[in-house]
Amino acid sequence: MPYSDIYKQLGFQNEIKRLEKQANLGVDKEIKMLRNLGVSDNSLILEVGSGPGYYTKILLDNFRDSEIVLLDNDENLLNHAKNFLNKDYNERITFIKDDIMDSTIPDNYFDIIIARFVFQHLKEPISAMKEIYRILKPGGKVIVIDVDAELWGGTFPKNDLIKNLNSDLSKFQSALNGNRDIGRSLLTLLRLLRFKNLNIESVINHSDILGKENFRYNFDKGLENDPKLGGLLKEYNEFFDLSYSSIMLIKFFFYGEKPM
Ligand SMILES: C[S@@+](CC[C@H](N)C(=O)[O-])C[C@H]1O[C@@H](n2cnc3c(N)ncnc32)[C@H](O)[C@@H]1O
Repeated sequence: MPYSDIYKQLGFQNEIKRLEKQANLGVDKEIKMLRNLGVSDNSLILEVGSGPGYYTKILLDNFRDSEIVLLDNDENLLNHAKNFLNKDYNERITFIKDDIMDSTIPDNYFDIIIARFVFQHLKEPISAMKEIYRILKPGGKVIVIDVDAELWGGTFPKNDLIKNLNSDLSKFQSALNGNRDIGRSLLTLLRLLRFKNLNIESVINHSDILGKENFRYNFDKGLENDPKLGGLLKEYNEFFDLSYSSIMLIKFFFYGEKPM
């Protein structure tokens, strides 16, 4: 099922706002990690599943001599990215509406491919990784940023609602042909497809460092009154009202290089 099934449930604007917050959460550490993993200026970068373009802007601002191709199979999100980015970055960006599981991009094309929070949504992650191998230049680097539902993080104090929300999200994504347990398989997938110099790293976001506001879920009145989701999201946010509560969230970076 397409990604639009997710934003149809939450509402497009709610989802866009959520993605903006998620793109900026702990971004300084993420950029440091990307640099450590060899992302450098003067690169031709493919951003797979670029969505509304908020993460692309961060990449454009931090890797200033690079060009970025934004690939997404969702027209609405791609249009949002165009409107958001075109004015300021026109000369450094190109948009492709395409499916990463079967793309029209030529062989051996990109220096670097970044796929952030995309693999968890894919029906055929193996096909997508094969495509990434095909379209990377020899010596090119892939960085997949994603989660694993069982290693999502933790709250203090323990909070069953937030813990269960993670496993419920897992079930929801499985029903949509995604897989929120994808994290544990990604490095093995890279190895089986003959990527070299494999690496795995993590970045942890903590509310005592980044502020609890950044972990709350902002939603509009429509969703607040939704009989199913409204109460759940309200209760989720109430956890953050406790003066002593905190949350930490783990994201993984999976790295490989296409052999020369
Ligand atoms: C959670 S969003 C992530 C957006 C962005 N990468 C970020 O980190 O802010 C996932 C994106 O992947 C895109 N996507 C899902 N399946 C795809 C596919 N098969 N080919 C290309 N893009 C896909 C969705 O349309 C959506 O824009």
